[in-house]
Amino acid sequence: MSETNAATAGRQALPLGDEIVGRINRLAAISEAPDNLTRIFLTPEHRGAADLILAWMVEAGMSAHLDAIGNVCGRYEGERPGLPCLMLGSHYDTVRDAGKWDGPLGLITAISCVADLNRRGRRFPFAIEVTGFADEEGVRFASTLLGSRAVAGTFNERVLASKDNAEISMREALVQFGLDPEHIGAAARARSELLAYVELHIEQGPVLEAKGLPVGVVSAIAGATRMAARVTGMAGHAGTVPMELRRDALAGAAELICKIEELCLTDGRGLVGTVGYIHATPGATNVIPGQVHFTIDLRAPTDVHRNRAVADIVRQIEAIAKRRKLDLRLDVTHENRTVPCAPWLKAQVAEAVAGEGYPVFELASGAGHDGMAMVDIADVAMVFVRCRGGISHHPDEDVELADADAGARVLLRLIENFRPRKAAG
Ligand code: GLV
Ligand code: MN
Ligand code: MN
Repeated sequence: MSETNAATAGRQALPLGDEIVGRINRLAAISEAPDNLTRIFLTPEHRGAADLILAWMVEAGMSAHLDAIGNVCGRYEGERPGLPCLMLGSHYDTVRDAGKWDGPLGLITAISCVADLNRRGRRFPFAIEVTGFADEEGVRFASTLLGSRAVAGTFNERVLASKDNAEISMREALVQFGLDPEHIGAAARARSELLAYVELHIEQGPVLEAKGLPVGVVSAIAGATRMAARVTGMAGHAGTVPMELRRDALAGAAELICKIEELCLTDGRGLVGTVGYIHATPGATNVIPGQVHFTIDLRAPTDVHRNRAVADIVRQIEAIAKRRKLDLRLDVTHENRTVPCAPWLKAQVAEAVAGEGYPVFELASGAGHDGMAMVDIADVAMVFVRCRGGISHHPDEDVELADADAGARVLLRLIENFRPRKAAG
């Protein structure tokens, strides 16, 4: 096997895990920067990664193509052509300065499982499709889950006009990538074509490690609200305007951000809030900032709690802005409800986990996943793989080779024993 990890010498071979880790490393080298992993939607490196994944899909015995939004789509036919599919997948975009497992682990594992089935000549009364979703992280255009929303037929064409930080619109970026923005609708799939959607993903948290388990069964994917905030004050001379006469947009934004942190810290019921991006203008040492843009990401274990918390936070930060005579504009850029995994499908994931000899343990996902969009056309389930140190969205994100192999064996077993809903009862 050409991509076998050199570090495997002298230990028991883990064929699936070895192939997966080798490919994770190859994909991680396709980045915007030589010293970190950054692979953003519709960039040249995103395209380079898509081409490599397409080649792996073909090598695994699938037909493969790039769809209208840039998703990488592979199909392994069943016992006869044209059967509805079990869809597997995850995303191949990353955050900035990312870990290499978030997204690619699920996608590469699914391809390795199909390759294994193909080598053994296994065909099923259903097709298997593997989708590498183009944009799950939403780094470039604020809105997120663009790839899976296009597949689910819920892509909002209005976002085509949205612009990145370099003022390039999504429409322009799609053309640069080699796609036609007028035909995004062609990526949509019908509910009748899918029997289920199953995603394997690094846990991105510390729970499985604390439990001493390599894999877990996801119960639900937590909802999220993302907002774009724009604070407008008055730019002015840093030496001449007395402090009490200033309308400093950045000092105001700092107070708003600290209020968001305080409300999350004192919530006591799992509310988490993040301001991950901020930009102040005009941006000079001797000029009072006149305008600030920042993002807000809020999540909670239940939708009721999140919705109440969002309303409370908005009310409180609006009051601060008013007191400081600042104009505050808040736009919701992303809103997703909590998505429970389908009980019948989750039961099959649990069977596969038990079949591989691991205790069955259920945990919720605090992170967002493509299943949040796919649920509009298919029942959804997820397998989590242990994450070292609970670290994610960070270059230190890591998965043990043996855990990657364990996840792959669980997914393979799930595929081989998969019963569509009617048959599963
Ligand atoms: C995706 O990783 C998210 O949960 O933001
Ligand atoms: Mn992810
Ligand atoms: Mn992520």
